[in-house]
Amino acid sequence: MNVLISGGAGYIGSFCCRSFLERGFSVDVLDDFSTGHRAAVPQGLTVHECNLLDTARVSKIFRHNKYDAVVHFAAKSLVGESATDPLKYYENNVAGTIGLIIQAQMAGIKKFIFSSTAAVYGNPSGNLDESHPTVPINPYGRSKLAVEQVFRDACSAYGLKCIPLRYFNAAGAALDGTTGEDHEPETHLIPLAIQAAFGKRPPLQVFGSDYDTPDGTPIRDYIHVLDLCEAHILALLSLEKQPDGYFRPFNVGTGGGYSVFEVLAAIEAETGKEVPRFVGPRRAGDPVKLVADSSAIKETLGWSPKYSDLKTIVRCASSWHRSHPNGYGQRVNQLAPSSD
Ligand code: UFG
Repeated sequence: MNVLISGGAGYIGSFCCRSFLERGFSVDVLDDFSTGHRAAVPQGLTVHECNLLDTARVSKIFRHNKYDAVVHFAAKSLVGESATDPLKYYENNVAGTIGLIIQAQMAGIKKFIFSSTAAVYGNPSGNLDESHPTVPINPYGRSKLAVEQVFRDACSAYGLKCIPLRYFNAAGAALDGTTGEDHEPETHLIPLAIQAAFGKRPPLQVFGSDYDTPDGTPIRDYIHVLDLCEAHILALLSLEKQPDGYFRPFNVGTGGGYSVFEVLAAIEAETGKEVPRFVGPRRAGDPVKLVADSSAIKETLGWSPKYSDLKTIVRCASSWHRSHPNGYGQRVNQLAPSSD
């Protein structure tokens, strides 16, 4: 199967490129390199350097290449930035995706996997399965939910098929530490804490320890990036058997959660170094607990996490940061001239 991976130079997208290749798929990448890394893309792949808002170029890519499916990651994903610059999020994430769907559909593509997020649930309470109300509390989450709705309507009207995967906290790196997470700016707990332990960053600010949890810090469901990739593969394979118009979102998490302090303790145990930290005020919009009910993806797609115990996540992530203290190195931001 020929798959176009949009955002294939990003953290989860680039891991998916490798996983799809290992499973015998043919993969091309579409990325504008605004946040992704050239070095993260496996060598030898065809890379279309293109921003999704460049509709003429996106159209050309679909006219000149033959794809069976699109796995769509390309998006802006900083929660804080989405609050200060919401139009950037609606333009890139919503308008960009609409353009992508239109062009893909004109090329006869029916199958889509969409990178969604637990942020669509907002501040959830009770059992967090896919039927939980979706009430996102920031423009990032609202943009992802809007895209889900666009896909839902497009599937119903045009006979497309789509599975949005609602990720919980993606984390970890390759098992051998050769590829990993490199965001600029970095906002995620695990990379920030590991880099603080290695002296590459200032002490970590713990965003509040007065939450209603056993140790006072928020609880998250950390999912290894390799397990996320497997969810994408199973989702795409399952679309083969689904009727036209199929649309179904799935949570992707482990069903277990760890507090901030538990994560820091795991990092200290793995690295043998103290994570320098201080407790500051709460970060706006942080839910107290985000833990997935992932029964649906387990029962329907046969997915189960293999690498998502906290020790393995932290071991892989530490190995990556130890061997790549500067991540993938400096990002080259310029778009190359069109070659499509
Ligand atoms: N945290 C700190 N200090 C930091 C960074 C994080 O204490 O410097 C804490 C946060 O308060 C939170 C936990 O660590 O309790 C995890 O925070 P992350 O920023 O790593 O992850 P989030 O849970 O905020 O973000 C995840 C996804 C987002 C998604 C969001 C939905 O990464 O894409 O869940 O709430 F939008």
